[in-house]
Amino acid sequence: MTTIGIIGAGNIGSAFAKALARNGIPAMIANSRGPESLFSLVREMAPHISAVSIEAAAQADIVLVAVPWSKLPAALSGLPPWNGRIIIDANNPIEAPLFKPAELNGRLSTEIFTDLVPGARVVKAFNHLLANLLSVDPHSEGGERVLFYSGDDAEAKAEVAALIKKLGFAGIDLGAIAVGGRLTQFPGGPLPAINFVKFV
Ligand SMILES: NC(=O)c1ccc[n+]([C@@H]2O[C@H](COP(=O)([O-])OP(=O)(O)OC[C@H]3O[C@@H](n4cnc5c(N)ncnc54)[C@H](OP(=O)(O)O)[C@@H]3O)[C@@H](O)[C@H]2O)c1
Repeated sequence: MTTIGIIGAGNIGSAFAKALARNGIPAMIANSRGPESLFSLVREMAPHISAVSIEAAAQADIVLVAVPWSKLPAALSGLPPWNGRIIIDANNPIEAPLFKPAELNGRLSTEIFTDLVPGARVVKAFNHLLANLLSVDPHSEGGERVLFYSGDDAEAKAEVAALIKKLGFAGIDLGAIAVGGRLTQFPGGPLPAINFVKFV
């Protein structure tokens, strides 16, 4: 069975974990302070979600990373080789409390993120909706809430697409990272924070 890890247990990491738990999909979640600090969070999602170290979460087949932009280098350093495993980049290059956009020197945030996880297959997803819309039932207004994703590895993208479908969202493939990363990036892209619903 495909294993899932989550690095970052704040708004987005815990919303993703809740969506998994609601669908009976097991996952391991980690933060900077260690598994004990996640006791009450995982109790809400028992028995599906377990609190683990960052190293343990990073060894899953699919790893979602949701950490404030400036903390990504620390969160992703010193981890075992990625060896082609799938990483979902749910991050945006801006953070509280100042909400000042990070300096990207003309690059996409996902390109900078990808440099931090050499050898991983990166899929950009789960970064364009507010966290509260990720954790609630995606069946909405008689349709399904849309989650956009993009990536340069077709197989990795297909696995993330399958997971998005299992969670009940309508996944929409935006193509390569160079296209989708730009459309969903916040700030700058036109798609973030819009609650799209797909009617089949
Ligand atoms: N909030 C949203 O609605 C939203 C929407 C779309 C995308 N995003 C993006 O998602 C990412 C996370 O945002 P958030 O709102 O979920 O942040 P958050 O609530 O502040 O949570 C951040 C998490 O990252 C963990 N963390 C910090 N440094 C770490 C490290 N060195 N190693 C491991 N974990 C570390 C924190 O753990 P500790 O608490 O133990 O330090 C915490 O669990 C950001 O890049 C943001 O741009 C957020």
